[in-house]
Amino acid sequence: MRRIGVVGCGLMGSGIAEICARAELDVIVVEADEAGVSIGRRQIENSLGRAVAAGKMSGTQRAVAFDRITFETDIGALHDRDLVIEAVSEDEDLKVHVFKQVDKVIEHEKVLLASNTSSIPIMKLAMATRRPEKVVGLHFFNPAPVLPLVELVTSLLTSPETAAKAERFATTTLRKRIVRSKDRAGFVVNALLIPYLLSAIRMLESGFATAEDIDAGMVDGCAHPMGPLALTDLIGLDTTKAVAESLYEEFKEALYAPPPLLSRMVEAGLLGRKTGRGFYEYPNR
Ligand SMILES: NC(=O)c1ccc[n+]([C@@H]2O[C@H](COP(=O)([O-])OP(=O)(O)OC[C@H]3O[C@@H](n4cnc5c(N)ncnc54)[C@H](O)[C@@H]3O)[C@@H](O)[C@H]2O)c1
Repeated sequence: MRRIGVVGCGLMGSGIAEICARAELDVIVVEADEAGVSIGRRQIENSLGRAVAAGKMSGTQRAVAFDRITFETDIGALHDRDLVIEAVSEDEDLKVHVFKQVDKVIEHEKVLLASNTSSIPIMKLAMATRRPEKVVGLHFFNPAPVLPLVELVTSLLTSPETAAKAERFATTTLRKRIVRSKDRAGFVVNALLIPYLLSAIRMLESGFATAEDIDAGMVDGCAHPMGPLALTDLIGLDTTKAVAESLYEEFKEALYAPPPLLSRMVEAGLLGRKTGRGFYEYPNR
């Protein structure tokens, strides 16, 4: 699989496009509009710039990698891809729509369709296509160029050949480590992580402790690289809420219910780093 399509070029899509380009693959990124393209393009340029500054690649390698990425707003541009990775916002209706569109523009039956969803069961997306056996979850982590993990999620209808090809792509081509998950909302990592993040938000909301103390407790007391509120800011409060809602819809357990403070902050546009303010402020984002 050398020709890759990525739909959505936000936090995750830009990182996925970047690692595919750095793995010498030909990448077409599709965004919703020109504004999305220019934000996505800038994110990739900045991230590649950081890789050069950190000595991980030369200026020439950066230019070559960037040249492998084409930016489009027409989903029809994906017609000749071998693998399409969907990374649009965590919204089930939107993702179902995107899977229907991608399925329509790709005629070749060998093509694999993957979703980077954090929580939506893969079956719901697979059934929007004519090829549920070719649909799989490839869940990267943020920032995708840095974190080594990919969750490989197979639905009841994913074929063993699709699972094997997706695994080879993640491990051999992209040099990621995989963990396998059954098709349950949240998969392995977010089923564990999200209740923890929501507990920290409830703790802050109840006035039990300050944001700084909650985060310092987990960084200095438990050796986590980042506290739960800073991590929620990094993930995006909108994405965190959407993932919590998928988990709640699937399991109906109170620990997955988004706390009111999270909902109010999302309504206020306080989405974390990406908007410059969440639980903390980011003046230089
Ligand atoms: N943020 C994280 O830490 C994280 C980690 C792992 C996985 N994910 C998952 O990755 C996916 C994307 O999340 P994100 O954090 O990158 O969100 P984001 O809001 O940063 O980016 C989403 C992008 O999708 C684009 N988009 C929306 N509709 C589109 C369409 N019809 N066609 C093309 N592009 C469209 C938006 O313009 C935006 O740029 C979600 O499913 C999320 O759950 C997120």
